[in-house]
Amino acid sequence: MTFTPLAAWASTPEPVRAAVAEALGAPIVGHRDLHGGMSPGPAVDVRLGDGRQVFVKAVSAEVRAHNHAMIRQESAILDVLPESVPAPRRLATVECGPWVALATTWAGASPGALWTDASIGAVVAACRAASAHRAPGGLPRVAERIFDFDGWERVLATGVGEAAHAGPAAAMVAGWERWTAGDALVHRDVRLDNTAAGARGSAVLVDWAYAASGAPWIDLAQLAADVVATGHVAGPEAATDRACRLLGTLPPEASRFVVGLAGMWCIRAATIPDTVMPDISAWRRARSVALRPLVSRLLREHST
Ligand SMILES: Nc1ncnc2c1ncn2[C@@H]1O[C@H](COP(=O)(O)OP(=O)(O)O)[C@@H](O)[C@H]1O
Ligand SMILES: [Mg+2]
Repeated sequence: MTFTPLAAWASTPEPVRAAVAEALGAPIVGHRDLHGGMSPGPAVDVRLGDGRQVFVKAVSAEVRAHNHAMIRQESAILDVLPESVPAPRRLATVECGPWVALATTWAGASPGALWTDASIGAVVAACRAASAHRAPGGLPRVAERIFDFDGWERVLATGVGEAAHAGPAAAMVAGWERWTAGDALVHRDVRLDNTAAGARGSAVLVDWAYAASGAPWIDLAQLAADVVATGHVAGPEAATDRACRLLGTLPPEASRFVVGLAGMWCIRAATIPDTVMPDISAWRRARSVALRPLVSRLLREHST
């Protein structure tokens, strides 16, 4: 499932577009709106008059203040990432009235709607490359960038969502603030739509707004969950199989993390309405449902 951008670059106010071109030092001679982002603003493949291809995303605080703050946050994070992290480089951040725009180097083509074995392999390598770095100073502890990990407890308490395995699931996630801690660089939002296909079969992680310091396996656990939640070209069983294989290479906390993410999707799907993004509740519900077989399997393995 991809989202239609709520705002096209062509309908972004002219002064914002002009300020971006000025900050980049070249006129914008062509653009292509991209799909797949999670913000209610344009994300664009931009061609500059000097031949460069760059990425630009923008949002107005009047549409959603949260995303405005996230673009500022991501700008600051990109500036402290070491060169050897597979991430785009920030070129400019522009503020214009209620708008903020971030321009970065072009990271590569979007990877398509579903995972493949090749894209999983490339993103595993990108996650390992990122987490081999110590988190730069100033990034928060990952516990501050993990939300709704009390999802299963709330499912238990309120009876909304999938109550069937909520008890053991809540027990498996308990203490997450402690066992997610660490000093590795964590992207924290690894999903297929936050990756780009880089050169020679490599992958680049994009959308760094939630980066933090934490345990080095977190991005790979998030990847395993996303292979199932987003889906694999070979179908749901292959997706669960690939996720289990990946989790098999990681410490047991990675499986606990996947169960925590499933609880997050479950409680969010049950309690948060669609607001700015249409269809987001349906998207959360679909992820929650897709993760059920994997969560059942992880709970069985954990209890034996
Ligand atoms: N530097 C980049 N180069 C190429 N494509 C990118 C780049 N950054 C993001 N994208 C693409 O644009 C989409 C939206 O960007 P993203 O940073 O994820 O925005 P959002 O905050 O809206 O999720 C991504 O899903 C990805 O396909
Ligand atoms: Mg994104």
